[in-house]
Amino acid sequence: MKKKLTRRTLLKRTFGSFLTVLGLSSGGYLYANRIEPSLLDIKRQHIKHPLIPKSFNGINIIQFSDTHLGFQYNLDQFKKLVNKINNLKPDIILFTGDLMDEPNKFRDIHQLLPMLEKLHAPLGKFCIFGNHDHGGYGSDIYRNIMESTNFTVLLNESTSIKLKDGSSIYLLGIDDAMLGNPDLPLALKNVPDNHFKILLSHAPDLADDAAMYPIQWQISGHSHGGQVKIPFIGALIKPPFAKIYPEGLYSIGDDHQLTLYVNRGIGTTRLPFRFMSKPELTIFTLNSN
Ligand SMILES: [Fe+2]
Repeated sequence: MKKKLTRRTLLKRTFGSFLTVLGLSSGGYLYANRIEPSLLDIKRQHIKHPLIPKSFNGINIIQFSDTHLGFQYNLDQFKKLVNKINNLKPDIILFTGDLMDEPNKFRDIHQLLPMLEKLHAPLGKFCIFGNHDHGGYGSDIYRNIMESTNFTVLLNESTSIKLKDGSSIYLLGIDDAMLGNPDLPLALKNVPDNHFKILLSHAPDLADDAAMYPIQWQISGHSHGGQVKIPFIGALIKPPFAKIYPEGLYSIGDDHQLTLYVNRGIGTTRLPFRFMSKPELTIFTLNSN
């Protein structure tokens, strides 16, 4: 009987043939399957802008993204990540979506909750929805997990971050582009124009829309940096809404008015491999320029 060719087997075959074509040894397979997914690249970025109040100088924001718990990444690894993040003493923590690979099938929520709760940031913990957080009727499961562990879920809404001197910046969060309903005008409602704004959007390619609004920075995930990159060819798979801006720093808009940063994420999905696309944790430092 002919075996049905699923998307996953097709991807596996594509990946396998790339390895064969490139002549990578079984050592290359082991590296992509076991070693690289367990590494962690800590990236540092400055967020400089004249709209940032001086009192925010030196404030640190840590972004983690796309853990996809339950696929290849497990809770033992996540526990270590939580300690790593706390040891870096962030003022603000951002999670940009895709917590569990399949929320409705994840059985260890009771173990995950204290880990998320342990994440500590004096100015707040914030998160948005990724496509996997909506998948398999997972939206309520994800929201309950994040809210019960002191994360503020930003679903087409905003919040201000205020310091003791009264100065503030704004964080905006929009819904996922693949399985949700992102609404930027709604997220911007009640946000004053003359304040510094950071938009959280799981999908990086929405930056082209964001550049049409008075938003200075966007922070995204979703792409996994391509997850598997082939030398001289680039990313093997770029998911929808991460095709234009797959990784790193971009300047967007006619006057380069919007800066986008795309984090490569922590876990993997669809294929248990990372190659030339190490898991990433990003530390942003605010600077009033
Ligand atoms: Fe993801």
